[in-house]
Amino acid sequence: MALQQKGMHGAWVSRWTFIMAATGSAVGLGNMWKFPYVAGSNGGGAFVLVYLACILFIGVPVMMAEVMLGRHGRKSPVNAMRDIVSESSANLRWSYLGWLGVVAAVLILSFYAVIAGWALSYIIEMGSGVLKGVDGDAAAVAFNQLLNNPAKLVFWQTVFLTLCVAVVMGGVKKGLGVAVETLMPILFFILFGLLVFSFFRGNFSAAVDFLFSFNLDQLTSRSVLEAMGQAFFTLSIGMAAIMAYGAYMPQKASIGKTILIVAFFDSAVAIISGLVIFSIVFATQGIEPGAGPGLMFISLPVAFGSMPGGLLIGAIFFILVSIAAWSSAISLLEPCVAWLVETKNMDRFQANMIFAVIAWILGLGTVFSFNIWSGYQLFGFTFFDFLDFLTANIMLPVSGLLIALFVGYVVDKKIIASEMLGMHPKVQLLWQYSLRYLAPFAIGAVFIMGLYDRFS
Ligand code: TRP
Repeated sequence: MALQQKGMHGAWVSRWTFIMAATGSAVGLGNMWKFPYVAGSNGGGAFVLVYLACILFIGVPVMMAEVMLGRHGRKSPVNAMRDIVSESSANLRWSYLGWLGVVAAVLILSFYAVIAGWALSYIIEMGSGVLKGVDGDAAAVAFNQLLNNPAKLVFWQTVFLTLCVAVVMGGVKKGLGVAVETLMPILFFILFGLLVFSFFRGNFSAAVDFLFSFNLDQLTSRSVLEAMGQAFFTLSIGMAAIMAYGAYMPQKASIGKTILIVAFFDSAVAIISGLVIFSIVFATQGIEPGAGPGLMFISLPVAFGSMPGGLLIGAIFFILVSIAAWSSAISLLEPCVAWLVETKNMDRFQANMIFAVIAWILGLGTVFSFNIWSGYQLFGFTFFDFLDFLTANIMLPVSGLLIALFVGYVVDKKIIASEMLGMHPKVQLLWQYSLRYLAPFAIGAVFIMGLYDRFS
């Protein structure tokens, strides 16, 4: 029966646990190394406004649709989709959407674990003091030494995957639920502490300027697309994670209000991270803000290394990044594990081991992309860049687009009515409008521009 209140995996103890879990999934490397830089270089305040609008009018509606599918199915994404497709008497091909999400989840987990391993290793690197007073060149050498050491990368990748298995093995209530309820408050606390530190010790006004000064002329149509892509990526839409978490959401909780809270937390973390990171980077003269790995593993260590007490703060910063990555990665493992438990009658431990080993083996490809395989290319990408591009630029938009169309046009209206009880009719109209027209158009545009950019 589709309207059952709980599936075989159990449920979150409360709406709050769902909020922490979904926020944990959403807050990740995307908030901490991508958003700050992209915002700063695309017109600051103007970009932030566009980004928030994309979150609100496109990201939130699609995320609500995904959670709704999960909650109605009360099963892993693969099986939930299958049930809803048959309940709606829709074409069976729609149920491949569940598969698309699960395959994407495994692929992302494989490289996420390697990158998260860098953050883990930098906790030690910072804490041990070897980076004290380094300049940009020395910090770059230290980072390259890590990348050129496959054994070290595999060691940290293994540690990280073990941490994920340890959580997911415990099940929804005692594993994931307890983990997110502990980790997310720690994450907020550390972030707040760093905000206070950067306010007093960093160049806070330069950071505010970089992130918020309103430069309309730097806001191009390309930046609008960037904002949209980022809004999607940061909310973890389209990769089965949010659908799986939705399956454990209490039936009475309002999906719309809950997802708004998650989106608010996610955006707040992105903006506060930006303030922290740039206050610290701009406190040291002559460091380029830079993007991605260079910002986090080269510029920041230099800045921390030159501040009094900076190394300790630096170590704490990498604990923050590791927690953010950890709480995202468990949401990638869960949909896979739930599916094996449901269909093959496996216990959680076995199911976890199977997917962790698959992600580990695939992850070796990412590890080697930075050293022994760096010369090999797949369509002009290293293995890691290929996976990143395939998941973030192809699978994620395709799956997000299909979710919007599926819920906008195909899903039985009775299912929607039963899951969206109590939603204001005007808001519901807006939601439907976004799923039917706005989101498909916007996601389609991001998708095509992304491909065009890459291959033109
Ligand atoms: N939202 C994550 C971040 O901001 C990245 C991400 C995208 C993700 N899709 C996901 C994480 C699915 C977990 C599950 O870094």
